Amino acid sequence: MKLLVTGGCGFIGSNFIRYVLRAHPDWKIVNLDKLTYAGNLANLKDIKEDSCYRFVKGDIADRQLVNRLFKEEEFDAVVNFAAESHVDRSILDPSPFIETNVKGTQVLLEAARGYPVQRFIQISTDEVYGSLGPTGKFTEESPLRPNSPYAASKAAADLLCRAYWKAYDVPVIITRSSNNYGPYQFPEKLIPLMIRNALLGKELPVYGEGKQVRDWLYVEDNCQAIDLVLRKGKVGEVYNIGGGCEKRNIEVVQMICEILRDHHEAQHLTPKIRFIKDPRGSAHDFRYALDCTKIKEELGWEPRVRFEEGLRLTVNWYLENQDWVEGVVTGEYLEYYQKVYGSGKGLAK
Ligand code: NAD
Ligand code: TYD
Repeated sequence: MKLLVTGGCGFIGSNFIRYVLRAHPDWKIVNLDKLTYAGNLANLKDIKEDSCYRFVKGDIADRQLVNRLFKEEEFDAVVNFAAESHVDRSILDPSPFIETNVKGTQVLLEAARGYPVQRFIQISTDEVYGSLGPTGKFTEESPLRPNSPYAASKAAADLLCRAYWKAYDVPVIITRSSNNYGPYQFPEKLIPLMIRNALLGKELPVYGEGKQVRDWLYVEDNCQAIDLVLRKGKVGEVYNIGGGCEKRNIEVVQMICEILRDHHEAQHLTPKIRFIKDPRGSAHDFRYALDCTKIKEELGWEPRVRFEEGLRLTVNWYLENQDWVEGVVTGEYLEYYQKVYGSGKGLAK
């Protein structure tokens, strides 16, 4: 099996590459990544010399490069992780989200049309379904009602995938997962941002009253599900992948504080939560929750890692890898941080 993995230097992509090289030692992987602020070679430092692995720096929206790569490598399958992935950044500026998430996906689909593959896995998100009230769950049949530019760009890509399957038989499968957490997540997302701030003695900025609900999925569980979908999923289908673990944001932040209090290296810290005016405004989805009956019944997948355990593993990883964290945080991040947390004006202003 020769795989094209895009966005493999990001959070989920790097965990997935490591997972595949362990699970399938005879597979070959080419990782195409643009190395944006969220992509770091350090995420795959340990496998860069592996003879089954090749890194190519480049943009999935670069038609010439993508076509050349498909022609040269004769891929058996594609797993498309490459994306602009942060809701807050999408409200600040939607353009790169359209370029990468929509146009980039179309360039890959077109290449897969010209140089056929056996499987094209599109890594999507539960955010395409929009927001839930206090009850209910999204199934794969739920309508797409995205609320942020990020979610809209992912929904657009999902629809292009569907159309390439219907019109050209490109063998697409879409996975829609809930919020991932674990090692190597860029510290702009809730969990790593809170851990980093706590370790630096900075305030923990909770949007609004912290009542929004997310369904948390340990990244390793997602990697296992994607590998299963790649090998055994049915072409043309969508699979929800959820952690089955709904938590309010404030609960998550409090749990992080408790884990840090128990940790001998962090006991001296006194993390301080600060509730800030919600910068997302009405684009802030209240609740996500996924019905994962389909992947359980068809492929026998269920999440294995309980949230308490996964969060402890994650906090420990960040404590032990503070050099990695400070290495990925650049001046660009500091400017971004100031825009979101410093102005109090809201992201859309
Ligand atoms: P990430 O932001 O950590 O990584 C994205 C990677 O894509 C980076 O390595 C970046 O350099 C690369 N990239 C960006 N634009 C590119 C381009 N034009 N060409 C090539 N590479 C490019 O993202 P993540 O959290 O690992 O998410 C991976 C995928 O999973 C995304 O498609 C995202 O929408 C989806 N997803 C993420 C979550 C989550 O909780 N993180 C949940 C559901 C779905
Ligand atoms: P995030 O990790 O950005 O994921 P998503 O918005 O894609 O679900 O945010 C998770 C939740 O945490 C979301 O409801 C917004 C909230 N949040 C905060 O309260 N403070 C923060 O600093 C961040 C980054 C997020």
